[in-house]
Amino acid sequence: MTPVTLELPDDPEATERLGEWLGRHLQPGDTLALVGDLGAGKTTLVRGLAFGLELDDPEAVSSPTYLLVLEHPGPKPLLHADAYLPAKLQGFLEDGGLEYLLGGTAVVAVEWADQVRDLLPDNTLWLTVEITEDRGRRVELRPPATGGYAFVSDGPKILAEILDRD
Ligand SMILES: Nc1ncnc2c1ncn2[C@@H]1O[C@H](COP(=O)(O)OP(=O)(O)OP(=O)(O)O)[C@@H](O)[C@H]1O
Ligand SMILES: [Mg+2]
Repeated sequence: MTPVTLELPDDPEATERLGEWLGRHLQPGDTLALVGDLGAGKTTLVRGLAFGLELDDPEAVSSPTYLLVLEHPGPKPLLHADAYLPAKLQGFLEDGGLEYLLGGTAVVAVEWADQVRDLLPDNTLWLTVEITEDRGRRVELRPPATGGYAFVSDGPKILAEILDRD
């Protein structure tokens, strides 16, 4: 599948809205792998995701760095993992955590996913976020070669949907 690139303005709300849009489309069993430098906007995006998934308590989403995985209940539950400390998450995943994480009952979002790239399933939607010169964010969505995530197809349409809404 062809990756889609989105140029987001210098506004955290744009990142949050993209997350919300993703949350409306993602289903339990889907994995969203987030890649981006410190402060790129990964957690901001997952906060938006929480609203799109209609989690019971979307405000509870925060950075899971020292907790490995945070569970958020809801109609489409979220497992929010963080591989910033890769050895920790890797050990957890290799000790049975992978089955827990990818059991299919929740949407899985992994920050710093490139640190555990080889452990994530083939059907992962990869998302890269980078800070641009104008302080906006360039987001690349890369659906897997194996298919799925068909909603990721038309960049301009996605951008219009998330930015034109008031
Ligand atoms: N499109 C945007 N334009 C401007 N600022 C943004 C945008 N998206 C997010 N931010 C801001 O970037 C900062 C860092 O965001 P966030 O904490 O989500 O990044 P992160 O990638 O999770 O960082 P870390 O790697 O430290 O966990 C926040 O202040 C957030 O409001
Ligand atoms: Mg973060």
